[in-house]
Amino acid sequence: MLAPMAGVTDIVFRSLVRRWAPDSLICTEMISSNGMIYSRQRKARILDHTESDHPIAYQLAGHREDILLEAAHQVIEDHAPDTLDLNMGCPVKKITGNFEGCALMKEPDLAAALISSLVKEVDIPVTVKFRLGWDHNSINFLDFAKRCEDAGASMLTLHARTRSQGYQPGCKWEAFGELKQAVSIPVIANGDIRSAEDAKYIIDTYGVDGVMIGRHCQGQPWIIGELDQHLKTGKPVQERTLKERLNVAFEHAQALCDYRGNQIGVREIRKHLTWYAQGFSGVRAYRNRLTQVNSLEEIQAIFDEILTEQYAIAI
Ligand SMILES: Cc1cc2nc3c(=O)[nH]c(=O)nc-3n(C[C@H](O)[C@H](O)[C@H](O)COP(=O)(O)O)c2cc1C
Repeated sequence: MLAPMAGVTDIVFRSLVRRWAPDSLICTEMISSNGMIYSRQRKARILDHTESDHPIAYQLAGHREDILLEAAHQVIEDHAPDTLDLNMGCPVKKITGNFEGCALMKEPDLAAALISSLVKEVDIPVTVKFRLGWDHNSINFLDFAKRCEDAGASMLTLHARTRSQGYQPGCKWEAFGELKQAVSIPVIANGDIRSAEDAKYIIDTYGVDGVMIGRHCQGQPWIIGELDQHLKTGKPVQERTLKERLNVAFEHAQALCDYRGNQIGVREIRKHLTWYAQGFSGVRAYRNRLTQVNSLEEIQAIFDEILTEQYAIAI
């Protein structure tokens, strides 16, 4: 599965991922239930999806039952998601300071009450994504997971880091096996999974029901579909040439400009461009220019230069 990533996994990126992974359950970026209800962001762009963007999970953050339920109802009414995911792992201060995201791991009673109310209220599966715990002194993912299961959650995704680890290296993959033993609902493993070998190792070793990949998909929207095929059929994951990567990157840029308009689209594609070009020697020199592009024409011109130079290196 593709991990939800705010500012990355928008409607345009998801549509690319689906080209290679049409059946995968794909999650939206985190949606603040407070934002939806208090700021009347019912039409916010973050909520957009296309007809073919299914199966889709809408991920909600919140800590107030009434607000969360209202947001869930609005999302279901407007977008008919296949599942709802509750964010109980976000480490960002702005979110935890509002008693949302990973802060709910410090309040398991409240977390369970929110899940239970939502499960009673909606007729689609409710899932939860969380971490190992708040910090290394308060690792409580096993108890927390059991509370989520008892409250009616249908599936759990564990990002095997604590909130205080942020995104630093050092995922505790062994926790996936412990979690799988502790609950009987499906468990999805997340954190630092970078290859088909990693995915296979985690599934075979810890018996999890699936893996979720975040940052390794940046600049590689084909990865989810290809890993899925590899796990099902053993078909090797194909390395993309630089030319193939840049072709997808340009298509991504065009789609983002169509969706957001050229000015915002070009600004939003900049980070993606550097990800697409990542890992090729010689491309680093173009990084700065890619982060400052102002038009689709400029992107195309830089890509042409990169490819001409790479070709010259190759011969
Ligand atoms: C830029 C960025 C934005 C993220 N946004 C969300 C989010 O909206 N909701 C969420 O549950 N997790 C979010 N995450 C966490 C990822 O879903 C995932 O748990 C984390 O990146 C670990 O997986 P990875 O090592 O495969 O990247 C975000 C991560 C990143 C890097």
